[in-house]
Amino acid sequence: MTFIGRRRWASAGVVVATAVATAGIALSAPSAGAAPGCRVDYTASNWGGGGFGGKVKITNLGDSLSSWTLRFSFPGTQKVTQGWSANWSQSGADVTATSMSWNGNLGVGGATEIGFNGSYTGSSNVDPTSFSLNGTVCTGQQPPTSTTTTTTSGNPNPGNRVDNPYANAKVYVNADWSAKANAEPGGSRVANQPTGVWLDRIAAITGTTGARGLAAHLDDAVRQAAGSPLVIQLVIYNLPGRDCSALASNGELKATEIDRYKTEYIDPIAAILARPAYANLRIVTVVEIDSLPNLITNVTPRPTFTPQCDTMKANGNYVTGVGYALAKLGAVPNVYNYLDVGHHGWLGWDDNFGPTAELLFQAANAQGSTKANVHGFIANTANYGILKEPYFKVDDNINGEVVREKAKWVDWNRYIDELGYAQAFRQRAVQAGFDAGVGMLIDTSRNGWGGAARPTGPGPRTTADAFVNGGRLDRRIHLGNWCNQSGAGLGERPKAAPEAGVDAYVWIKPPGESDGASKEIPNNEGKGFDRMCDPTYTGNPRNGNSMSGSLGDAPLSGHWFSSQFQELMRNAYPAL
Ligand code: GLC
Repeated sequence: MTFIGRRRWASAGVVVATAVATAGIALSAPSAGAAPGCRVDYTASNWGGGGFGGKVKITNLGDSLSSWTLRFSFPGTQKVTQGWSANWSQSGADVTATSMSWNGNLGVGGATEIGFNGSYTGSSNVDPTSFSLNGTVCTGQQPPTSTTTTTTSGNPNPGNRVDNPYANAKVYVNADWSAKANAEPGGSRVANQPTGVWLDRIAAITGTTGARGLAAHLDDAVRQAAGSPLVIQLVIYNLPGRDCSALASNGELKATEIDRYKTEYIDPIAAILARPAYANLRIVTVVEIDSLPNLITNVTPRPTFTPQCDTMKANGNYVTGVGYALAKLGAVPNVYNYLDVGHHGWLGWDDNFGPTAELLFQAANAQGSTKANVHGFIANTANYGILKEPYFKVDDNINGEVVREKAKWVDWNRYIDELGYAQAFRQRAVQAGFDAGVGMLIDTSRNGWGGAARPTGPGPRTTADAFVNGGRLDRRIHLGNWCNQSGAGLGERPKAAPEAGVDAYVWIKPPGESDGASKEIPNNEGKGFDRMCDPTYTGNPRNGNSMSGSLGDAPLSGHWFSSQFQELMRNAYPAL
């Protein structure tokens, strides 16, 4: 389900600064007499060490376009190393970006944002000064936006949504999951916890064997609410070409089936959510886990690429699908959309972190959506990343070895736990353009790491490796391991407003449901066999070619895995 894409395609050792300098220029003076054809807003964010992120907003002020070509020249040594939302190429200093199938249509006044990661040498990164769109030099001013009203609250319906939906609210308990938990010896200790309802295929909307449909869940939620505020947590998880970097959670829709996603999946869900009977529920949606992060890390030219992720990046259907889902679901005034942001062991590296925030912002503005449809973000969904690592920090210096640089477990990651990652991502998202009021969720269902193997203090101060490996609570073999992890335990119990910037700790992945089968199991759910779920597998570039650390005898993803549930309870932290 959740896959790492390691950041190590930029050369190690040169990433030295965290500070982000943002230089923005807007080319807004129309030259006299020229019909303004376009406007370009170019923003470069320098990461230090010669790396930067470029954001290019193109506004079409001329006739409607069905495809476009943007050209500009770098004044210095800048190079585009990776681009998104356009086909990028560079010859000498001259850069060309052509539209993708999904963003070629630009009506009059229409805008789209594209971006890239770049590198430069020397001390300053001077912005390009001239841009052309389909051969016309962009000299335009933004047309008046008289029809657009902006709100600062981040809500399309200010007053309808509360800032933190979890505050002073109950959270829906899924009786289907509870029944499975209760049937386990000792399971009654956790069976009353709220967990996510996964709409993981079209049939889940009306109900499948052993799982009631969406309206039945909502009816039950109204009963559980009994007139008080109540949050129900739905996982929107059925994109075309789902789960492009792993096979265990491949879905039913093929890479091209975006229309079916819209009309057979999102539209019916939105119609049910909009029923008046449910208007008092606070409906939290976790939108399409793993999808957009995969487009950052698991694509060419990275060693972690997969052909399926290249396909999904090129056809744009993840961005289109997420934008559509946000727009449709966000139109329901009591829906709170939370976008997935992977976890620290996936996106915590500098060359993944900012680009993810930028791509999410782009998706939030796709398909008629606006940022107002994004209430917040969720980290660690279905993953095992520890909430807090108390016994080491990235900048600890052990005998001259800085942990971030020398400890293999950390490997230049800027974050060591989910809380630090989530709080920082929130800020980066705001910097990317999201509303300042966005809040974070953290899935703590399986990141407890308690039990006998849990360290009780820091490791020996001999080497950075010994220090980190001796003291880390996350006992995985490698941070990139994600399937049915041996040694994991239930984490913090669901809780509202536990930390600054965090709306809630939540249990989105229902504990006891498998991440994937440990061997090939034929099925009609579209689920493939991913060897990351096979305990004998020796790994791939996404987990540093390490052992998978997964439990044996695992059933298909989403199916009940009794022995894992027992282990999660044994290793719960806090203990049950
Ligand atoms: C995996 C499965 C999905 C299931 C979910 C929750 O993503 O692919 O079918 O609903 O886990 O357990």
